Formats: sequence, C-alpha cells, structure tokens
Amino acid sequence: MNTIAVVYHSAHGHTGYIAGKIAEGAASESLATVSLLKAEELIAAPEVLSRYDGLILGSPTYLGGVSAPFKALMDRTGGLWRQQKLKGKLAAGFTVSSLPSGDKQSTLQSMLVFCMQHGMIWVGNPVMPEQRAGVPCDEAANRLGSWTGLMAQAGHGAAADAFPPGDTRGAILFGRNFAQTVARFTCHDPVASGNGVTA
Ligand SMILES: Cc1cc2nc3c(=O)[nH]c(=O)nc-3n(C[C@H](O)[C@H](O)[C@H](O)COP(=O)(O)O)c2cc1C
Repeated sequence: MNTIAVVYHSAHGHTGYIAGKIAEGAASESLATVSLLKAEELIAAPEVLSRYDGLILGSPTYLGGVSAPFKALMDRTGGLWRQQKLKGKLAAGFTVSSLPSGDKQSTLQSMLVFCMQHGMIWVGNPVMPEQRAGVPCDEAANRLGSWTGLMAQAGHGAAADAFPPGDTRGAILFGRNFAQTVARFTCHDPVASGNGVTA
C-alpha cells in the first residue's frame, strides 16, 4: 500500500479540517495509507518526510504566504535537500484563507517552488470548477478555480468546519486524485529497475 502524508499547520482549525477531508479522499477506495502530520511537530524530525511515497502540504495563507510554523519546517529540510531524500516523490499543496482571493496563489507558489527545489513531482488540482456545469457556487468543487493546488475559504472567525460544501467535497476529490496519481506512478519504478536516468 502506498503511503501519503498530509503535512499541515493550522492555528485555528480551518486548515486542519480541510487536511482531514483531503486525507479522507486519499484513503478512499483503499488507495493509500494516509497520515496526518502537524508541521510544528515535524520541525524536530524533518527526516520523517522521507518515509512517504507522497506528500500533501497545507498551510493557512498568512499575509500572502505560508505561516511561520510551516516555513520553519520548510527551512529544516536543508539536510534532506543535500541528501536528495525527497527527490522523485509526488507532492501537492493546499491553502485556506478568509478572503475569496486573499493572495492564496502566492502561498501555493511557495510550496511549488519548495517541492521543485527538492526535485519532487508536483500534482495539481484537476477538478473542474463545478459551477460551470450549473452547480450552485457554494456547492461546487473547486469553486475558487485553482489548478495549482487546492484553495478553500472560511470566513474570518468562523467555526473550523464552516466551509461551503463545495470546498469540503473539493478537498475529498483533491485527496483522491492525488492518491490515484501516486498509485499510477508507483506501479513501475524504472530507476529501481535500473532503466532510469541517474545523475
Ligand atoms: C497573521 C495572519 C495573516 C493572515 N493573512 C491572510 C491573507 O493574506 N489573506 C487572507 O485571505 N486571509 C489571511 N488570514 C486569515 C487566515 O488565512 C484564515 O483565518 C485561515 O482560515 C486560518 O487558518 P487556520 O484556522 O487553519 O489557522 C490571516 C490570518 C492571520 C492570523
């Protein structure tokens, strides 16, 4: 069974709620064994990241970027980078903020660049915005129209689970797509079998 970690920081529960829905989707159809890991707990043990076939990164958007605890984890992966321990793994990212835009794209971009620097393979969010098919906007998966990664939005000060239903369903679909992609990629490993290109 493939292993996937959803690695996230959440100060007030919103990102944690979406992380749980992503994990639910990734674990569906027996696609993978999924772990929910808190970024702040991994700062002391970043090597744990290298144990997984796929990583899904999640942070709230703080002032147009990842939160400080999430960045602290990123900055603790220098040793993994030097040893190329994350190279070739699949990765994806998601973010939550309180405003419809809120500069969430900037947060996803920093996760993408982080994963590129580690030589990882980025998996986006292929779910089409369902309002195009007539689904009411709040109920539509990918209602915010983000393909780089998953975006979700909950009002400022709202309960941790107070997302429009489309965001919750979109998170499940995002997790399922990621796990399906990991399953496709890990069924044959040309590097392990000696046919791959090595540096
Ligand atoms: C320091 C700080 C900066 C924030 N910056 C943004 C922002 O740039 N854009 C936005 O839409 N929301 C912003 N927010 C709101 C959070 O992204 C939002 O409340 C999010 O749901 C928090 O996630 P959490 O409950 O997982 O901690 C900010 C919140 C804080 C505390």
